[in-house]
Amino acid sequence: MKIAVTGGAGFIASHITDAYIDAGHEVVIIDNLSTGKRENINPKAKFVEADLNDDSIKTLFAEEKFDIVNHHAAQMSIRISVDDPRFDANNNILGALNLFEAAKASSVKKIIFASSGGAIYGEQDYFPADEKHPTNPCSPYGIAKLTTEKYLFYYKEVFGIDYVALRYANIYGPRQNSMGEAGVVAIFADKMFAGEQAIINGDGTNSRDYVFVADVVKANLLALNDKVSGHFNVGTSIEHDVNFIFKTLKELTSADTKEIHAEGKKGEQKRSVLSYEKFKTAHAWQPTVNFADGLKTTVDYFRQNKLK
Ligand SMILES: NC(=O)c1ccc[n+]([C@@H]2O[C@H](COP(=O)([O-])OP(=O)(O)OC[C@H]3O[C@@H](n4cnc5c(N)ncnc54)[C@H](O)[C@@H]3O)[C@@H](O)[C@H]2O)c1
Repeated sequence: MKIAVTGGAGFIASHITDAYIDAGHEVVIIDNLSTGKRENINPKAKFVEADLNDDSIKTLFAEEKFDIVNHHAAQMSIRISVDDPRFDANNNILGALNLFEAAKASSVKKIIFASSGGAIYGEQDYFPADEKHPTNPCSPYGIAKLTTEKYLFYYKEVFGIDYVALRYANIYGPRQNSMGEAGVVAIFADKMFAGEQAIINGDGTNSRDYVFVADVVKANLLALNDKVSGHFNVGTSIEHDVNFIFKTLKELTSADTKEIHAEGKKGEQKRSVLSYEKFKTAHAWQPTVNFADGLKTTVDYFRQNKLK
């Protein structure tokens, strides 16, 4: 199949691109390189340096005649979205709409979208959250992800373009950067290797559900299948707090560092953990990499590659 992967120079979608190419698909990456890196770009993919909002997107879609769009390009920092909601909406809502309008005018049959279970449910009423949990996002980033899912529903109902919204937990692994929802792993590992002090914001008991990037890639391979449609959580149902991550990374990096806490960041969610039962029951997706092994692989990556 011919697949447009937006954000393919970034952390998650560069791994997805590699897997799609290995599976024999043709991939065109669309990325403005705002946080993505040229070294992440698979040389077998065609690379188009463009912003989601560019007028050229429509022409590109008309020329390339994609079967599928895998949409991962986004402003992905919750903090930036709080500081500048209009910047977030311009990238994450209007950019998505420019892409979806180009898809509508061309041959696209399905859109796979990187949503966020961590952000769209908001502070959870119960743990782990399944897909029926109320959606009360507490950040412009979460609002934009939920809004984009609603637009996808509209494009399916009215124009027949199918979609899969993958509601990710916090994703970590090689190539991750410091700004994403699992940024704490990259920040701590990098500081520890540099011999600098990593600081824990608040008391360190905030917890998240960490899913390894290889398991997310499997979800995106599965999403290509015609039978997979709708929205699914992609998580592990296990939560770890920041203090645990600090201690584990300290061991893995052999860093001689103290545990120092600073004032907590305002508005940070306390707990987030996702049920993957729906995806497991319907399509046999489940996480396969445990946190200890995934963290070790990630730390090995940061041993070789400094955070940029
Ligand atoms: N990392 C996580 O834990 C996590 C969790 C939930 C959802 N997500 C979502 O997954 C997707 C990928 O996240 P990531 O962690 O790989 O981030 P990333 O920053 O590494 O990747 C995003 C990519 O999109 C590109 N980009 C950003 N704005 C663009 C625009 N307007 N036009 C064209 N390209 C643009 C960037 O250059 C980058 O290559 C995002 O949609 C993010 O919201 C990530």
